Amino acid sequence: MNAIEITGLCKRFTGKRMTKVDALKGLDLTIEAGEVFGFLGPNGAGKSTTIKLVMGLLRPTSGTAQIMGMDAGQAESRRHVGYLPENPAFYDYLSAEEYIVFVGSQFKMEKSLLAQRSEEVLQRLDLWEARKRPMRGYSKGMVQRVGLAQALVHDPEVYILDEPMSGLDPIGRALVKDIILDLKKRGKCVFFSTHITDDVEKVCDRVGVINKGELLVVDRVENILQRGVEGYTVLVINPDKTKEEQFVKKTDLQEFIQQSVMNQQSIEKIEPRRKDMEAFFLEIVAQQ
Ligand SMILES: Nc1ncnc2c1ncn2[C@@H]1O[C@H](COP(=O)(O)OP(=O)(O)OP(=O)(O)O)[C@@H](O)[C@H]1O
Ligand SMILES: [Mg+2]
Repeated sequence: MNAIEITGLCKRFTGKRMTKVDALKGLDLTIEAGEVFGFLGPNGAGKSTTIKLVMGLLRPTSGTAQIMGMDAGQAESRRHVGYLPENPAFYDYLSAEEYIVFVGSQFKMEKSLLAQRSEEVLQRLDLWEARKRPMRGYSKGMVQRVGLAQALVHDPEVYILDEPMSGLDPIGRALVKDIILDLKKRGKCVFFSTHITDDVEKVCDRVGVINKGELLVVDRVENILQRGVEGYTVLVINPDKTKEEQFVKKTDLQEFIQQSVMNQQSIEKIEPRRKDMEAFFLEIVAQQ
């Protein structure tokens, strides 16, 4: 069974004076169990709209979304999902610990398991020291980490995270990447949105690029990086043992190697030189 299945999903918002915005235009996307998928797109691309539709928080204009074979918004599907909304906001008179326990109790977790899990997630997200303070005194990054903690507490199979690294400092971002990689190791499915390419390059199996409500590309990260290969940096050892580094175009590599052999040079290292994910992303979005 697929973790997330989206078919022909469309969302048209009707604003004041009947202005219409097609935020999502027929999205088809399947995310397998155990997969980490990065949903990459610039501001206003339709990422949060998609996520809200999948969570059943918005009604689609047309199309369907399912989580673990259940329709979006079906109460039973919630058990299987950890959801981090965009800009999470909580009852700020509660402490992080009270809030996490409250969320866990909504999933009818057994009391001792809930106590254990809430300690684990608060520790993991570096909130343990602050756990008894009301959240109104938390910094933006701390609130974001509470958002992640509440998505993790019931140990679901699928994680839908709307910009999980947003508002975090480099240490916080690294922590979230680590958490996503841990989830992956444990066979969980993570679907997260971001507009930062570095976030997807490090942790995702596949990436989808969305812009203006349309999915432009879906591919495995290594394929995307491979597509961006422009050439190779080759370290050559000359017959007199001196070393030389040369740039060789993608199409010229075979010929270069043959020529080197004829010149009695040996090759110590060949490294691809490629456009990074950022360049790929900008190019794709600019082409639309
Ligand atoms: N409730 C709404 N009413 C009208 N238009 C909306 C509504 N919500 C979103 N939109 C529009 O839909 C489009 C997609 O918005 P969405 O929030 O999904 O983008 P996003 O990719 O999450 O962007 P960001 O990176 O800024 O969070 C935008 O043009 C936005 O203005
Ligand atoms: Mg958004």
